[in-house]
Amino acid sequence: MDDRLRLEYLEAMGIQSWVCREPVADTVIVATEKKVVRAEGQGTRAEPSAVQTALPDDVTGLGWEDLKARVVACQACTLHQTRTQTVFGVGNQEADLMIIGEAPGADEDRQGEPFVGRAGLLLNAMLKAIGLERGQVFIANILKCRPPGNRDPHVDEAVCCEPFLQRQIALVKPKVILAVGRVAAQNLLKTDVAVGKLRNREHAIGEANIPLVVTYHPAYLLRSPDQKGKAWQDLLRARSLL
Ligand code: URA
Repeated sequence: MDDRLRLEYLEAMGIQSWVCREPVADTVIVATEKKVVRAEGQGTRAEPSAVQTALPDDVTGLGWEDLKARVVACQACTLHQTRTQTVFGVGNQEADLMIIGEAPGADEDRQGEPFVGRAGLLLNAMLKAIGLERGQVFIANILKCRPPGNRDPHVDEAVCCEPFLQRQIALVKPKVILAVGRVAAQNLLKTDVAVGKLRNREHAIGEANIPLVVTYHPAYLLRSPDQKGKAWQDLLRARSLL
C-alpha cells in the first residue's frame, strides 16, 4: 500500500502518524498507543505526542565517542528544543550491571548526568546495599533529554532514542540489566504490563538474551517507602545473576 493511502486510512481510524522531518530511510513512525497513566503501579505506556519526529541516523557499529557525539547533536524529536543538554549516561563502560531509568529530570538536565537528584541518592544507596559503588555500574535512561515538566516520555520520543540505548547496551555487554520503574521496564520489555507484575519474574532482552530484572523507580520508593522491601528483593535477584 502506498504511504499516502496508508496515512489516509490511519487518519480515518483516528490513529495519529508521524512523518520524518529529515529524509531517513523508510522511517514513518506510527503511533498505536494512546493511553497515559502516570502511577508507577499501573499498566499502560505513555501517549504519543502530536509532533513530527524522525529517527536518528543508524548508530550500529559506533564506538563510545562517536555515539556520544550523535546523542549530543540529536534533534530527532522536539525534546532537543527544551533540553539544557543531553544526558548520555555514566559509569563503567564494561560494567556487569547496567541500570536503566526513565529520563533526565531537572537536576540531570542541568548537570548532564543521570540520577543525580534525590532519586539518584537513593539509587546510590540501593547499589551500596548490594555491595556496588555507583562508578562500578553503567547508568542510562530510556530518553537522553528531559521531557518538559518531567512528564512521561511520549512513544515517538522513546522510539527515536531507542537506537542510542541499544547501542550502549551492545557496547557495555552487561551481565544483568536493572530496569528501574514502569517506563524503563515497559519500554525495554515492549509491554503494557504493570511494573508490580513485571518484577519478581525472569526476563531477558535482545539477541544476547541479557537477563533483565524489574524494580520500582527510586522516586516512587521515596514516595512509598513501604515498598522498599520489595525493591530489596529485586536487588538481591539482580545480584544473584551477576
Ligand atoms: N529519574 C530517571 O529515571 N532518570 C534520571 O536520570 C533521573 C531521575
